[in-house]
Amino acid sequence: MIITPIFLKKLTSHVVVPFAVRLFTKQAKMSDTLTENISTSSDFFFRQFFDPKSSTYTYLLADIETKKGIIIDPVIEWADRDAQIINELGIDLVYALNTHMHADHITGSGKLKNLLAGCRSVISRASGAKADILLDHQDHITFGRHKLVAHSTPGHTEGCMTFVCGEQGIAFTGDTLLIRGCGRTDFQGGSAEKLYKSVHSVIFKLPRNYRLYPAHDYSGKTVSTVAEEQAFNPRLTKTLDEFIRIMENLNLAYPKMIDVAVPANKVCGIYELQVAKE
Ligand SMILES: [Fe+2]
Repeated sequence: MIITPIFLKKLTSHVVVPFAVRLFTKQAKMSDTLTENISTSSDFFFRQFFDPKSSTYTYLLADIETKKGIIIDPVIEWADRDAQIINELGIDLVYALNTHMHADHITGSGKLKNLLAGCRSVISRASGAKADILLDHQDHITFGRHKLVAHSTPGHTEGCMTFVCGEQGIAFTGDTLLIRGCGRTDFQGGSAEKLYKSVHSVIFKLPRNYRLYPAHDYSGKTVSTVAEEQAFNPRLTKTLDEFIRIMENLNLAYPKMIDVAVPANKVCGIYELQVAKE
């Protein structure tokens, strides 16, 4: 006589099989997302900073050999701190970059230019903001022997860019892709359809084990990977139509800082300094 364990019988019932399938799919997804780590090269300096007021991440990168460095998405209130650390570490800051024209804080690029001789501000041409260097799609940002490639990823704003460092396997996604989320698309020339296409045609086309560093996080998450976001991003795993519907129904409040931040960021934050002097 063959005895079938009760649990196997249950697995073949109509009620339990869908659960088992769901469990298996979830486990398969979870194990798929633990991708092989790409270690950074020994001459690549990386530091992540956080502004608790706007939940913004700022990134300082440098070539350890030549000391040339760049900063991504600095915040004006922290420019003195950033300049102090840059000086202490002996970094020669060549560029202060912005992933886009922010609406929730004033960029520190203008102030950093005042504090650090030789630093030039950088933003996309499509942002409509002033800067020393205006980037187009596929432009390179070089510091020492390292470089980032600027990819146009509109949607949150028309001028959003994602900066990719292929050698280190990292990408700075701005507000185009946040960890388990994305930037809002209801102002500054935003478009849910464009954001969806930017994520799927640029960021999700990167190797699955690339680490993703966003411009913000509101719950303490510091980094993700392409594989994780492809599996678990609650918005960008949906179809385009579903995604558009989600974005149209967020009902978000008008951003508190937008009327101050956007005019200032059009001139890389220098506006704020001029107003303060007057
Ligand atoms: Fe933003």
